[in-house]
Amino acid sequence: MKIFLDTANIDELKKGVAYGIIDGATTNPSLIAKENKGFIPLVKEILDVVPGPVSVEVTATSAEEMIAEAKKYAELSENVVIKVPINLEGLKVVKTLSESNIKTNVTLIFSSSQALLAAKAGATYVSPFVGRIDDISGSGMELIEEIAQVFDNYSIETEIIVASVRHPQHFVQSALIGADIATIPFSTLTKLLKHPLTDIGMEKFLKDWEKVKK
Ligand code: E4P
Repeated sequence: MKIFLDTANIDELKKGVAYGIIDGATTNPSLIAKENKGFIPLVKEILDVVPGPVSVEVTATSAEEMIAEAKKYAELSENVVIKVPINLEGLKVVKTLSESNIKTNVTLIFSSSQALLAAKAGATYVSPFVGRIDDISGSGMELIEEIAQVFDNYSIETEIIVASVRHPQHFVQSALIGADIATIPFSTLTKLLKHPLTDIGMEKFLKDWEKVKK
């Protein structure tokens, strides 16, 4: 499974890339707003740090305006992936961009019918938001299983990005289902490594090493 970092924070992205486990990044308007920087300069900084696909979201609401925004962002780097909301205007955008070989990540996916339509329009990726479904007492991971099954039924090549990941179990279940990508916040990334037996084992090894004659 590929791992993307779901952040626009340059320090977090630099740390993740240095660990050698980050394949790309996803941003959204809320993550960008948190950084208090100019939009295009920040996107350029992110593209300089991340050696893979970087999702950048359009914010217009008509297809024509979204396409104009998308074309401007796509010129920044071949790693730019245009994040497009799932709605009728969004489908037109995805179709047009895919015909120009511009990659798209269809976002705010909450049902397998939305994912299937996005894929049919030519989406490179779909982003189902598992955490937000759990927040309203649904099962985000059941949606991932459903979309994986539908895509498998028809050999659809659109990749599934498990988004709105809140904890390590979302990550582990994504891998068990066989999702293509999990996009995770930096705080979840560090939790994935934590194990009390690893900490206890390290402490014991270091204590015993002190007893060795050197
Ligand atoms: C994904 O692409 C989104 O940026 C993100 O995962 C949303 O997560 P949230 O529900 O924690 O805001």
